[in-house]
Amino acid sequence: MSLHDDVEEILLDADTIAARVAELGAQLTSDHQGQDPVLVSVLKGALVFLADLMRTMDLPTSIDLMEVSSYGAATESSGQVRILKDLSKPIEGRDVIVVEDIIDTGLTLNYLLGYLADRQPASIKICCLLDKPARRLADIPIDYIGFTIPDRFVIGYGLDFDERYRNLPYIGVLKPSVYGGAPPEG
Ligand code: IMP
Ligand code: MG
Repeated sequence: MSLHDDVEEILLDADTIAARVAELGAQLTSDHQGQDPVLVSVLKGALVFLADLMRTMDLPTSIDLMEVSSYGAATESSGQVRILKDLSKPIEGRDVIVVEDIIDTGLTLNYLLGYLADRQPASIKICCLLDKPARRLADIPIDYIGFTIPDRFVIGYGLDFDERYRNLPYIGVLKPSVYGGAPPEG
């Protein structure tokens, strides 16, 4: 038995991801010359992307990690999220780069952006690996996008289904038999 047996289709293979991450890192490096930005990432999905991205950036960066959970389906449209892990240092006056795995409805990030802006950073930029615009509910100004993908539920390279598949080195789509029935949302 292999984890790979559950994958129906590979959308982005490891080499394709690595090449694009390197381009993003180079772009971030040239756009932030003279700055000492803090990369703020959201656990757990963005972990793999953050780890690879930061190593392609030739800048004096620091990182901080947040963890959030949504309040559940009933209030999903409000975009209210619960902060499970807060920033460990103040970001006042700092140049913040939010590093996210995927922007789907945009509600999570919309809330987070307000939260971060209240802490008066000098600037906030958004860098996401995957943009899934089909289901967008909140208008998010994304500064850096790795790949725009169709409206499919994807796993791997940090992204999970029920906490599994984060360690796949590529981004793929699961076989329907794995989740049995309708594909999961968001
Ligand atoms: P949003 O608030 O709808 O933009 O949701 C963002 C979060 O939902 C992401 O950070 C992921 O954790 C999760 N998510 C959205 N789409 C997918 C997907 O296709 N696969 C796995 N997780 C997803
Ligand atoms: Mg996430």
